[in-house]
Amino acid sequence: MKQKGFNTKAIHDGKMNCEQESMSVPIYQTVAYKYSDAKEAAAIFAGQQHGYTYGRWDNPTVSVFEQRMASLEGTEAAIATSSGMSAIFLLCHQMLTAGDEIVSSNRVYGGTFALFEVGLKKMGIGVTWISNPESLDAWAKAITPKTKFLFVESPSNPSLFIADIPALAALAKSKNIPLVVDNTIATPALHQPIALGADIVVHSTTKYICGNASSLGGIICGPSAIIEDGIRMGPLRYLGPSMAPFNAWLNLNGLETLAIRMERHCQNAMAVAKYLEQHPKVASVNYPGLASNPYHAMLKVNKLKGASSLMSFEIKGTYDDAVCFIDSVETITHATHLGTCKSIVTHPASTTHSSLGEADMKKAGISPSLVRFSIGLEDEADIIADIEQALASTPQHKDGKKADVYFPPAE
Ligand SMILES: Cc1ncc(COP(=O)(O)O)c(C=O)c1O
Repeated sequence: MKQKGFNTKAIHDGKMNCEQESMSVPIYQTVAYKYSDAKEAAAIFAGQQHGYTYGRWDNPTVSVFEQRMASLEGTEAAIATSSGMSAIFLLCHQMLTAGDEIVSSNRVYGGTFALFEVGLKKMGIGVTWISNPESLDAWAKAITPKTKFLFVESPSNPSLFIADIPALAALAKSKNIPLVVDNTIATPALHQPIALGADIVVHSTTKYICGNASSLGGIICGPSAIIEDGIRMGPLRYLGPSMAPFNAWLNLNGLETLAIRMERHCQNAMAVAKYLEQHPKVASVNYPGLASNPYHAMLKVNKLKGASSLMSFEIKGTYDDAVCFIDSVETITHATHLGTCKSIVTHPASTTHSSLGEADMKKAGISPSLVRFSIGLEDEADIIADIEQALASTPQHKDGKKADVYFPPAE
C-alpha cells in the first residue's frame, strides 16, 4: 500500500485494542487494569501477551499517542513523558553512567543546559559544549572513546541555530554513537531528523504539538531496544515521569491539526520577521526563514518545510528598551512559553535562560536587549499592528547612560 501522508498519519495512526472504536480516542483515566486470572497477569507482565500492567509504565490512551508519534517521526517506538525535560533526563539516564561523556551544542534550551551542566556533572558524567556548532570539525575533535551520544537542538531556542543534521549524523555513525536531536521547535510536521540520519528524537510536546498551552509533556522517539526494552522496562518504572492519560489525549488532538498549524505559524512568522527587519528601532532579526539569516541555507539541507515561528530580535538600546517593549504589547501575550496559537513575547536573559549566567549567555548569543517571539495564529495584520504600537512606545537608550543589565535591577 502507498505510504500515507503526514496529515493522514497524524489523524489516524495508533490503535487501541477494543471491540468498536470511538472517533475520539477514549481517555483511560485509570492507574491499573483487571486481569481475568493469575496466568493472564503473569503473561502480560512477561510480555508474552498483549495487555496493560500499571499506569506508570503503560496506558491505552498514552500508547496511541506514542504509536502516532513514532509513526510521524519514523521510529520503531516512542515513550511519552511528563515533560520535555523528563524526556531528555530519562534518555540520559538510560544511555549514560558515571565516567561517560556526551558532546552537545551549546545552543540549547536553558533547562537542557542546566540538566547537562549541573545534573549530569553531579552524576559524574562529562559534558563537552560545542560553542561553534556550525563547525563539524569542532564536533569531531570533541568526541572521545567515552562519548556516548551527540546532542543537538535544531532549530534551537532561542538563538535559532540550525544544525547540518545529515553531516552530524554521518559523523556520529562514523564513530558508532547515536545522534540525538531535540525537534521541539520544528516538530515532525516541518522535518523528520530520523530521515536525515539521526537516531533518536526528543520533544517537549508542551509546545507546538499540544499547541495551546494546556499540558506539559515530552516524548522520546527511537529504536525499540532503547525505548521499550530499555526505558520502559527500566527508568520509566523506577523514576516514574509518565505522561498522564488526559495529557496524551490533548496531545492527540493537537497532532490532528499540527501540520496545518505549523504552515500558518511559518507564514505569520515570516511576515513579522520581514516587518521587523525594516524597522528603524530594530538592530537585528534572527529568523532562519529570512534569506539574510546565516542558517537559511540549512532549511534546504535539512528538508525543513518552514522555519517554524520562534524568532528573536535585538532592539536598538538596552535591557530597559527590551522590557519597555515587552510591557507595551497588548494582543501578544507576555509569557515564558512558545509554540501556541497565541503569539508570545519573552525576555530570555532574565527568564528562560537566566540559569546560564552572564558569561554563558554571552557565548550563546543572548543579550539583554534580545526579545523572543513565538508567533501564533492570530491574524497577521493584528500581530504586526501590536508590534508597531509597542515599538512606538519604546524609548531607545542609545546614549548608554542606562546600565545594560541582564536582569531587573535590585529594588
Ligand atoms: C527546545 C526545548 N526542549 C525542551 C524543553 C523542555 O520542555 P518542558 O518545558 O516540556 O519540560 C523546552 C522548553 O522550553 C524547549 O524549548
